Amino acid sequence: MSMASRLLEVTDLNVEYSSRAGPVKALESVSLAVGRAETIGIVGESGSGKSSLGLSIMKLLPPNIHAFSGVVRLEGSDLTRLSENEFRRTVRWKKISMVFQGAMNSMNPVIRVGTQIAEPLFFDSSLSRHDAERVAKRNLRAVGLSDEVFRRYPHELSGGMKQRAVIAMALVTNPKLVLLDEPTSALDVSVQAQIMNLLKKLRTEMGLSILFISHDLALASELSEKIAVMYAGQIVEFGTNSDVLTHPLHPYTQLLLASAPRLTGGLSPGFIPGIPPDLVKPPAGCRFHPRCPYVFERCKNEDPLELVPDPGHSVRCWLHGEKE
Ligand SMILES: Nc1ncnc2c1ncn2[C@@H]1O[C@H](COP(=O)(O)OP(=O)(O)OP(=O)(O)O)[C@@H](O)[C@H]1O
Ligand SMILES: [Mg+2]
Repeated sequence: MSMASRLLEVTDLNVEYSSRAGPVKALESVSLAVGRAETIGIVGESGSGKSSLGLSIMKLLPPNIHAFSGVVRLEGSDLTRLSENEFRRTVRWKKISMVFQGAMNSMNPVIRVGTQIAEPLFFDSSLSRHDAERVAKRNLRAVGLSDEVFRRYPHELSGGMKQRAVIAMALVTNPKLVLLDEPTSALDVSVQAQIMNLLKKLRTEMGLSILFISHDLALASELSEKIAVMYAGQIVEFGTNSDVLTHPLHPYTQLLLASAPRLTGGLSPGFIPGIPPDLVKPPAGCRFHPRCPYVFERCKNEDPLELVPDPGHSVRCWLHGEKE
């Protein structure tokens, strides 16, 4: 991918939270590039750092940050150097938006839906209230809701309608990139399918780049061109959809696939044996080695590098490293 086609570039991101037990290593040397009009799925089990990655890009990490390093570039310029003021004025909700995990259930109950959708527009003082309302209504229609929803309160909407509303809120400023954090996990399967179709339509119409965050590999692969698999704060595999689904290289990805019967047609939905790692004291060597069916000596001592056995398909796993 050439520099010019890159919209967002995350390089060597490290995030630690403070906790009573000690610093929590939520992200460890995470690097990722998102192209224009490209959708990348970020998948991994609970606690793997997916939301932390999204919140880092939005500069909305919680206050108990213990350490932060890395570079986030949007169209070549380093966002980590911007002050909070500059970031809010020029980037957040303008160029990059996010639908937060659980957003549909944390809409303000006493503010009308339309006002909440128009809210990001109020940061832009050049728009009158009337114009903001007009734009918000246009966005309601774009997500398949009628103008009449504008005056309603969140409790008057179904789950699917609320999810459409929070998507409208993220898109109302016409951003280039939208981060969707588990946007359908609270919905039943048929409504989930409707929202996925809506996202496909909006992506094409708006030329959007999307980071689609999900614990569900099957769902993420429906929308994404590329998949990043996260484990214990690291991206352990990255590649095109078809590379990752048909030729998974990391044992963790292979187990994720085996536990996703919708993709393989076999097995019942399963869990990956063993417990997720303690991110205060992550395992030495490969983070996955205590749960890995193929573990060998090197995995216990040396953290695998990012290896690129096939062009465009990388993996952090010694099975694909040089032979000892
Ligand atoms: N504010 C915080 N303070 C301390 N630890 C945190 C905080 N937020 C997240 N963590 C920890 O950081 C790690 C990564 O969390 P994160 O929420 O990014 O994971 P996730 O992949 O989004 O999980 P989920 O699928 O459950 O949403 C986890 O171990 C989590 O417990
Ligand atoms: Mg999360």
